[in-house]
Amino acid sequence: MPVSIRPLHPTFAGEVSGIDCRHPLNREEVAAVEAGMDRYAVLVLRDQDISDEQQLAFTQHFGELENYRSAGHVRKREDSRLGAGMADFSNLDRHGNIMSAEDRVWFFKLGDRLWHSDSSFRPIPAKYSLLSGRILPSWGANTEFADMRAAYDALDPRTKAEVEDLICEHSLIFSREAIGFTALTPEEIEAFKPVRQRLVRVHPVTGRRSLFLSSHAGAIIGWTVPEARMFLRDLTEFATQPRFVYSHEWRPYDLVIWDNRTTMHRARRFDRNEVRDVRRTTLAGDVATIEQAA
Ligand SMILES: [Fe+2]
Repeated sequence: MPVSIRPLHPTFAGEVSGIDCRHPLNREEVAAVEAGMDRYAVLVLRDQDISDEQQLAFTQHFGELENYRSAGHVRKREDSRLGAGMADFSNLDRHGNIMSAEDRVWFFKLGDRLWHSDSSFRPIPAKYSLLSGRILPSWGANTEFADMRAAYDALDPRTKAEVEDLICEHSLIFSREAIGFTALTPEEIEAFKPVRQRLVRVHPVTGRRSLFLSSHAGAIIGWTVPEARMFLRDLTEFATQPRFVYSHEWRPYDLVIWDNRTTMHRARRFDRNEVRDVRRTTLAGDVATIEQAA
C-alpha cells in the first residue's frame, strides 16, 4: 500500500497511512516517512499494536538510538520496568503498580507538562522521539505539539535579529526548579550540568530556521538570569499560541513521531489513579547546535 499523509493542522502534523510498524520498511517507505517528518515535523500512525522489539526495530530505520548509558538519568537501570533502549513514560513503577504521588520519579515526570524539546539538556540533543501509546487513561493525557518553524517565521523582524546568534544554557535542573522540585541529589546536580544550545536552529535537510526553546533553558550567555528568563518566557508564550499548536488525543496503539529539532511538546493532565503506559524510543541528534554554522 502506498504511503500517504493527511494534514492534521494548518502548518504541521500529519496522519500517516500505509505503514505497518511491525515489519521492516522498504527504502521507499523509509524515504516517505523521512520526507513526511521534514514537512510535518509530527507524524501520527494509528493502530500500531507493536512490541518493544518492534518499536526499537522501527525506530532504527531513521537513525541511531540515543545512548541511554550516558549521564542524566533519573531512574536507575535496575529500577526500570522496560529493557534497554526503551524509555518508560508510564506512571508505573518497576513492579507495574501506579507510582506513589510522593515518588521522586513522578516529580521528574510532572516536569514534562512544561513545554520542552526532549534531551535539550544533553550536549547533542535528540533528533526524533517515538511515543507508543499502550494503555491510556479514560480522560486527559493529550500530548500537545508546537511548531517552532512557524513560530520563528512569525517573529517580528527586530526579535528575529535579536535571537539569531543567542546561545542558551539548558539543564533538567531549570525545568524541575520551575515546578518547585529542587530536592536534587549532588549526583543529579553533577549529571545535569547546563549545556549550551543555539536559540535558532537550521534544519539540516530543509534549511528552515526554528526556535530551539525548551523549559530546560534557564540562561542566555551574556545576559543576566532575570532578563534571560523573562525573554525565554515571552518567546515561549509567543511560540505556543493556539495557532502553532496541535493537540494529540491518544487512542490505544497510536505511534507518534516528532522532530525535537523543530517542535516543542508537553504532556497534559490525567487522573493519576489510572494507568498510562506509554513507551518512548529516541533517536540521537548528529551535531551540537552550537557547532551549527550561523
Ligand atoms: Fe518529552
